[in-house]
Amino acid sequence: MFAKRWDFQTSVTDMRQLPDIGGTEIAFAGRSNVGKSSLINALTGRTGLARTSSTPGRTQMLNFFSAEDTPVTIVDMPGYGYAQAPKEMVDAWTKLVFSYLRGRPTLRRVFVLIDSRHGIKANDKEAMDLLDKAAVSYQVVLTKADKIKPGQLERLEAETLELLRKRVAAFPRIISTSSEKNKGLDLLRAEIASLA
Ligand code: GTP
Ligand code: MG
Repeated sequence: MFAKRWDFQTSVTDMRQLPDIGGTEIAFAGRSNVGKSSLINALTGRTGLARTSSTPGRTQMLNFFSAEDTPVTIVDMPGYGYAQAPKEMVDAWTKLVFSYLRGRPTLRRVFVLIDSRHGIKANDKEAMDLLDKAAVSYQVVLTKADKIKPGQLERLEAETLELLRKRVAAFPRIISTSSEKNKGLDLLRAEIASLA
């Protein structure tokens, strides 16, 4: 079962600060502003657990969340592909995100969040290439499903699955979500709980 009481554990700006390896980690990755932090708040039922903002680039560290009744740790990541921030900052986040994704033995699955209005972009492909190469299991989660029509969402799900077909580490099931309308959350909670 999905744990009930989630708390902030730690923030990390450098790979050397990563917490000791415990149970299982799952991470939320995706472009800036795709809705990673909002989804973590919606899943855990704790508004404000992960900081969100309408301005991209809100999350600037790896943030770890844990709960007493599960061995699963949830990791919120800075977004990639945010062009407006100073280059050194973007480079630092991207380096941190990519080294974490490549080199964390406890990382059981990465949920790659894709905005339903935009679909998979070039930098999402780059992230997936890296995950394929590192053989880290990942699963696509469509976000902000409240922003598009049900028919469009169905088409996007089918197109996205097709794009993932040849990717070796992609988990072949897509979960469509809306943090605002609480859509798809139980499915995602069950998926996370199954990884414990
Ligand atoms: P960074 O930390 O900057 O990488 O962004 P993030 O991916 O964590 O996004 P965040 O959760 O901060 O949300 C970005 C914006 O999208 C905020 O204005 C949210 O209110 C909005 N948002 C997130 N989820 C949803 C959703 O399901 N529906 C709608 N309509 N808006 C959403
Ligand atoms: Mg965030």
